[in-house]
Amino acid sequence: MRRPLIAGNWKMNKTVTESIEFAKGFIEAVKDVTDRDIMIAPPFTSIYPMAEVLKGSNVYLGAQNMYFEEKGAFTGEVSPIMLKDAGCKFVILGHSERRYIFGETDELINKKVLSAVSHELIPVLCVGELLEERELGKTFEVVERQLSEGLKGVPESAEFVIAYEPVWAIGTGKTATPQLAEEIHSFLREKLTELYGKSKADSVRILYGGSVKPENVEGLMAMKNIDGALVGGASLKVDSFEKIVKFGR
Ligand code: G3P
Repeated sequence: MRRPLIAGNWKMNKTVTESIEFAKGFIEAVKDVTDRDIMIAPPFTSIYPMAEVLKGSNVYLGAQNMYFEEKGAFTGEVSPIMLKDAGCKFVILGHSERRYIFGETDELINKKVLSAVSHELIPVLCVGELLEERELGKTFEVVERQLSEGLKGVPESAEFVIAYEPVWAIGTGKTATPQLAEEIHSFLREKLTELYGKSKADSVRILYGGSVKPENVEGLMAMKNIDGALVGGASLKVDSFEKIVKFGR
């Protein structure tokens, strides 16, 4: 009932030349995939040149971040209007690297989420606990706070995606087991039900992120509340990302 979404987050990787080369090979590799959505979030510099290559393909573009204002004196920032105009449909917000390296708070992330939906960009709101929070038994508390604070004021009519990325699983090769991830995903869906009611909660895609690879994607995707993947490292090569996108085929 929920259409799977497989998304690549390239983080700070690939020049324009490398991005274009990837895009050309990748659209060919996934051109027959029609039963799931595919998205790539390249660095800002590659968004527009990739949009030119991906035009008419089944691959959507996303950004990895944005500021919430439309324009003005905000040196170094990129606005939702710019992202839409450059060809983005999605924007990743609240990634743990934004939270813990760049100090983004739930309050700032919420402003960005509200701005994204008001500009008809689909936010992919990331939540996830640190290893020490998990060890202290705080996982549910942390993800619940990040979810409800991040979505504050977001209307039921807005389309958004949630990504659960346990911080200890990102780039470490330590994937959460499907059962462990499902436990959090079903908890997040319960919380969405409390916030928006069952029918909206049932329609929201909740992605898993953290060391997703061709070898483990199928087990994760078999879980009832895992609707897709947000892939870092393994999205940087056409063949591994293609395999992930084509899970179960
Ligand atoms: O947003 C994706 C991410 O943080 C996971 O990265 O390299 O563990 O797949 P990676």
